[in-house]
Amino acid sequence: MAKIVAGLCTSHVPAIGVAHDQGLTEEPYWKPLFEGYGPARQWLEEVNPDVVILVYNDHGTVFSLQSIPTFSIGVADQYKPADEGWGPRPVPVVEGDAELSWHLAESLILDEFDMTIMNEMDVDHGLTVPLSITCGHVDKWPFKVIPLAVNVVLYPPPTGNRCYNLGKAIRRAVDAYDKDLKVVIMGTGGMSHQLHGPRAGLINKEWDTRFLDDLSANPERLKNIPHIEYVRETGAEGIEMVMWLVMRGALDDKVKEIYRHYHVPASNTGAGLIILENE
Ligand code: DHB
Ligand code: FE
Repeated sequence: MAKIVAGLCTSHVPAIGVAHDQGLTEEPYWKPLFEGYGPARQWLEEVNPDVVILVYNDHGTVFSLQSIPTFSIGVADQYKPADEGWGPRPVPVVEGDAELSWHLAESLILDEFDMTIMNEMDVDHGLTVPLSITCGHVDKWPFKVIPLAVNVVLYPPPTGNRCYNLGKAIRRAVDAYDKDLKVVIMGTGGMSHQLHGPRAGLINKEWDTRFLDDLSANPERLKNIPHIEYVRETGAEGIEMVMWLVMRGALDDKVKEIYRHYHVPASNTGAGLIILENE
C-alpha cells in the first residue's frame, strides 16, 4: 500500500532559486541559508521517496485574476517550469504520477474537497524552488511530483482549518491507494513576509518560531489562527503558511521533529524549513 512517511515544509522565495541557479550559495549573504539546507538534502536522499505531493501556490504564472481555483491538482505526466519575473528556471522538467494524481483527485472530490483538475500546469518558483532546496543541482528530479496548488494570492484564501482537513483527506486517499509507494508531502511558502506597502520587509521571527514549535507539537492551535492574525503579525504574504497546515494534516497527530532551519533574512522573508516524520 502507499504510505505517507514524512512531511517537509520550506519557504519558496524566488531569489533563493536565483542564488542556487547562479552559483551564489557561497556568498556571505546566502551561505548561512544554504548551509542549513544540507541536512535536509541528506535526509531526503536517505528517505528516497517514490512520490512527493507538493503543496504550493501559483504566483500568476498559470492562474490570473480571470480564474483562480482555491485548490487544484495536477494530473499530468509532466509539468514544465515557468515563472513570472526572472522567467523559467534552468531546472529539469517535473515528472508526475498521473495514476496517483487521478486517484487523489477522485478520492478528494468524493471526500467533498472540490479540487480543480489540471491536465496541464506549468510550475513556478513556488514548486521548483523547494525542489532545488531539497535536491540541489540534478539532471533529473529523483522522485515523481504531484503538484497541488492552493490560492493564497487573491482574497479569500482557504482557512487554516480547511487546509489542515485537506491534509487529512490526502492522508485517507494515499492510505487507500493500492500500490507500494513511499510518499513524502511537502508544504511551501512563507514564512513571515510583506512584499509591498509601508510595511514591506516585515519579518516576525518570534511568531515564525512559535509556528514551527506548534507545527511539530500543537497543530490544533495553528489550524484556528484567523487570516487577520497572519496578515497583522506576519505580513500580507505570510498567509502562505496555511499551506504548511496541509502538510501537517496529512501526518499523524503525534510526530517526530527531525530537523529545522530558520534564517533571517532571505530576500524579504523569514526563511524556514522543517522536517516531521510519522513515528
Ligand atoms: C518573495 C517571496 C515569495 O514567497 C514570493 O512568492 C515572491 C517574492 C520575496 O521575498 O521576494
Ligand atoms: Fe510566494
